[in-house]
Amino acid sequence: MLSPLQKARLEYTPKMPKILQNVAAICFQEGQRVCASELFPKLSSSRVLTASTDSPPPAQPLRVGVVLSGGQAPGGHNVICGMYDALHALNPHSRLFGFIGGPGGILKDKVVELTEEHLASFRNQGGFDLIGSGRTKIETQEQFQKSLETVERLNLDGLVIVGGDDSNTNACFLAEYFLQHNSKTCVIGVPKTIDADLQNEFVELSFGFDTACRVYSEFIGNIARDAISAKKYYFFIKLMGRSTSHIALECALATHPNLTLIGEEIQAKGQSLADVVRDISDLIAARAEEGKDYGVILVPEGIIEFVGDVKILISELNALLASTSKHGAAMEPMSPPDKVRYVIPHLGDHARGTFEMLPHIIQEQLLCDRDPHGNVQMSKIESERLLMELCRQELAERKLRGEYKGRYAAVPIFSGYEGRSSLPSVFDADYCYCLGRLAACLVAHKKTGYMTSISNLAKPASEWSVCATPLHMMIHFEERDGQQKAVIRKAPCDLGGKPFEYFAAERDGWRVEDCYCQPGPIQFFGPTEIADSRPISLKLRGEK
Ligand code: FBP
Repeated sequence: MLSPLQKARLEYTPKMPKILQNVAAICFQEGQRVCASELFPKLSSSRVLTASTDSPPPAQPLRVGVVLSGGQAPGGHNVICGMYDALHALNPHSRLFGFIGGPGGILKDKVVELTEEHLASFRNQGGFDLIGSGRTKIETQEQFQKSLETVERLNLDGLVIVGGDDSNTNACFLAEYFLQHNSKTCVIGVPKTIDADLQNEFVELSFGFDTACRVYSEFIGNIARDAISAKKYYFFIKLMGRSTSHIALECALATHPNLTLIGEEIQAKGQSLADVVRDISDLIAARAEEGKDYGVILVPEGIIEFVGDVKILISELNALLASTSKHGAAMEPMSPPDKVRYVIPHLGDHARGTFEMLPHIIQEQLLCDRDPHGNVQMSKIESERLLMELCRQELAERKLRGEYKGRYAAVPIFSGYEGRSSLPSVFDADYCYCLGRLAACLVAHKKTGYMTSISNLAKPASEWSVCATPLHMMIHFEERDGQQKAVIRKAPCDLGGKPFEYFAAERDGWRVEDCYCQPGPIQFFGPTEIADSRPISLKLRGEK
């Protein structure tokens, strides 16, 4: 059942740089050698690859598997369509297989062959429902062995893993394992996550961020319009983004709310939860002085992990809840209230003090199961409600002291899942299709352990640059699940970068004055600056 807009999007042909148009003529040039990594003895000699054109011999038919990993991000289906079209342009007898339900599909050998017929209704569409996704981590020797058996059984030339930092870490280890076991299957990673925390010198932006931010910004703009019309509520809007504040920053640049918390800044200032509540309450009190008892406050989903005292608490809770800890095992069968009672005596004095200050519901949420990568499931923690309630207490105390005369009515809102499966913006549709074509070409050239990297993204698609980066170059050590782990680095918001600098220079003007901007819904047709625009933060990053 497709809507008229969905049908119209099926007809769209994604734009791409010239080099990706004729995939049969692509070749890759090796750049400088990178430093060797002991963790990846086989991969460590791989170098950054730049695409150029040549006349290589016609490609043999290829057999390639694709898996979507982690949270949905708009454009995933176009990665698959780009792969399919490129593989068939290289050799019409090539075959593409989709693993069902994420990396778990590789382990369980659940696979479907993807044909033109399958893809026909998924071109330029949102969601991941063609093959589904999952968060299973492939990390044990047994899982590596099982994965090897699956790709060998399918006789795959390549396995393309579409995922974020954790999934691409998996891709890197898998590529090394396959090489060590003399498998011909190349492993290629594609940078996906609405959170935009998979970015570095070679990965300008993960796909899905643009669309998700546009969906959230439309919503925030509409809420702000309602706030200024009714003049009766404070809206605490929590935005997805888990461990970083890229989404909140982009949405702030697009909509100009009265206050936007940026986790990385809160961390850099060493602020406590009480400091954050004081800052928000100061804003509310200042606006009340102007007769404004309404406003919009953006809260990045992962905010509490940046707040000094809560961060210490979470780290202690993570260690207690770790599957490897005796406490983790003891708590496994307990009800949420029992877990709360169990952890309190096992926390250090400081962490206990913080824990006891939190509303009961938030205490329970902090004890929810970690994701398979050992992370707190931030989308399940109602930080918007926590801040709203703590501000209520703070403002009530100020009122008693005669320091606040306003009327405080607040509404907590979580804006998250609706942005992840939306119809991809023109930018994400183009970008994803290109990433898929590039992934197919890398497999055709027997490259393994690489991430597809397309840059110059702020420019029109015709000017994008195409290369591939060894995944092992992005790996570093950090604490996960109470242990040091080799993982791809999550990129925080850069407080010295242009987007944050611009925001910091403008935000004071948005506090008491109402400068809300209403971006409206994503447009697919019309003038380029509306229908084929770029994230504001991406454009700012590119400015000299
Ligand atoms: P990925 O990093 O896997 O792309 O997921 C992003 C995200 O949307 C986060 O913003 C959010 O915290 C999380 O997924 C929610 O995950 P779940 O779908 O498991 O609730």
